[in-house]
Amino acid sequence: MELQKQEAQQSPSKRLMDKVAVITGGARGIGAATAKLFAENGAHVVIADVLDDLGASLAESIVGRFIHCDVSKEEDVESAINLALSWKGHVDIMLNNAGIGAIDGSITSLDMEHVKHLLSINLNGTIHGIKHAARAMIKGQKGGSIICTSSAAAIMGGLASHAYTMSKAAMDGLVRSAACELGVHLIRVNSISPHGVASDMLLSAFKRFEKVDITLEELKGHIGKRASLLQGKGATAEDVAHAALFLASDESSFITAHTFPIDGGYTSAVSHMSFIYQDPK
Ligand SMILES: NC(=O)c1ccc[n+]([C@@H]2O[C@H](COP(=O)([O-])OP(=O)(O)OC[C@H]3O[C@@H](n4cnc5c(N)ncnc54)[C@H](O)[C@@H]3O)[C@@H](O)[C@H]2O)c1
Repeated sequence: MELQKQEAQQSPSKRLMDKVAVITGGARGIGAATAKLFAENGAHVVIADVLDDLGASLAESIVGRFIHCDVSKEEDVESAINLALSWKGHVDIMLNNAGIGAIDGSITSLDMEHVKHLLSINLNGTIHGIKHAARAMIKGQKGGSIICTSSAAAIMGGLASHAYTMSKAAMDGLVRSAACELGVHLIRVNSISPHGVASDMLLSAFKRFEKVDITLEELKGHIGKRASLLQGKGATAEDVAHAALFLASDESSFITAHTFPIDGGYTSAVSHMSFIYQDPK
């Protein structure tokens, strides 16, 4: 313990030294990039996911733990928190990141079974995560940071399907109400709102719409051109992981009930009228 503390002082980059983090949906994509970054920064990470092989090998590579967890099942999420508690005795960071995308077409033909399924993961999964992480953090009496992976789709319309958009907008509301209740325990609750990260989820959605074979790298270039104020730059999972690292660390100790867009400015401004910034002739 003393050695680790000394290391943390010598190495300012270890921003999560000795903290214990549970990451749902941590086997790949944004969750996996965050699990690696948290571990590099000194955290002990529990990966909770339905992808057993990917999750277990990632956990091994970062000296973390893996647990099979379907976030739509409350008992699975509770078990993930209990694993962290039995392993290290406390939980400091909870990243509710597991989620699925959807292509459900017109509101006029929305399949309610489909909506129910999506909400059971994207929304109920987040409720389960906040609930059980908060219980452990309250008992631990040391505060904590709960982060939920929302989406730019919760900020503006037209970026995702109806059910997905609704699930993420509801999540942002829950983040604010939970932050309000849990602040007395010094538990912070925030959401991160990515946009256009070239992950497997976005790739499969894109392939179904555009019906073209496209690689992750090509998708990134495509997003950089069409969906970011930062010309040519598309988001990476690491961009989102760095935002999560900030919210997980003590550097953000006065930030709660906040939604943090990682969107290249896309939800804040349109660029198709940027000619107005040219000096008049
Ligand atoms: N990629 C983007 O552009 C983007 C934009 C906004 C928000 N998000 C959100 O980011 C999060 C991560 O998505 P990603 O882009 O890395 O996609 P991804 O598909 O690569 O990762 C999603 C992870 O969640 C896991 N998961 C799915 N259902 C689960 C369940 N029932 N229980 C436990 N784990 C489950 C998957 O196995 C996978 O590991 C999601 O919540 C997604 O909605 C992504």
